[in-house]
Amino acid sequence: MTEQEICSKLKTVLKPKRYQHTLGVAETAVRLAEHYGASVQKARLAGLLHDCGKEASDALGHAEVGAQLAETVYGVTDPEILSAIRCHTTGKPGMSLLDKILFVADYIEPGREQAPELPRLRQLAFQDLDQTVLEILEETLAYLKESGVVIDPRTQETCDYYSKRKEHTMDESKRMTQIAYQALDEKKAAEITVIDIAKVSTIADYFVITNGENPSHVQALVENVQEKMFKAGYPCKSVEGFRAANWVLLDYGDIVVNVFSREDRRFYDLERIWRDGRIVENVESWAKDGTEEEA
Ligand SMILES: [Fe+2]
Ligand SMILES: [Fe+2]
Repeated sequence: MTEQEICSKLKTVLKPKRYQHTLGVAETAVRLAEHYGASVQKARLAGLLHDCGKEASDALGHAEVGAQLAETVYGVTDPEILSAIRCHTTGKPGMSLLDKILFVADYIEPGREQAPELPRLRQLAFQDLDQTVLEILEETLAYLKESGVVIDPRTQETCDYYSKRKEHTMDESKRMTQIAYQALDEKKAAEITVIDIAKVSTIADYFVITNGENPSHVQALVENVQEKMFKAGYPCKSVEGFRAANWVLLDYGDIVVNVFSREDRRFYDLERIWRDGRIVENVESWAKDGTEEEA
């Protein structure tokens, strides 16, 4: 079937409001696919067909029925599209990019109005897809529990999976930060501050801020961080400002290390800019054993 034929058929089987929702999901899925480098064509088809089983089944079963109808009636054979349709209501552990795109698009499409946090989720979807999936699952579970509706166990299972994964990346970020801290400490960096920004930003989990006494000290600190991190299996993604040594920024993805000159540290005052984050207390013992208790 061509896309036009699919749309004409959907118009006859879906209620007008559902058809409108379907177009919104398809359009949102396309935007997400463009953003994340997924197949735009597959995203559009998955979006158009995701609810094709809605009028033929109940809320719990329509995703599975939809996947079957997509195959038998609409002639879709692509397993990626069928998988995305099949898990669009509950998600599943280890979703593919297309699965996640459809799952998120279904929730944030422009026609939806009721869910709380929608404006924020619509932004987050283009910054951190996994986090968006997790938050949608949490909201959905909270809503279903409150309204006493039967919950598909797969929703809980998916939510547990994605929250465990998040914990795992936080553990890894913490380990990276500890290594960076120790490398800085070893070379006598001044007042090392670690800020946990995971809850307030999607750019990283931790920010490390310190300064050296002079340009060669700044460079020595940076080199030691790079060496120790590299040995631990964390190559640096980018380094900025090494030559000038006023503000060297080491980007490790989940953590960002900033080594300043004394004057520039005061001037840029990153601690103030990131004051919504949480400063790690007793950072010396935290860097050793992960606890913030005084040694
Ligand atoms: Fe649906
Ligand atoms: Fe839907």
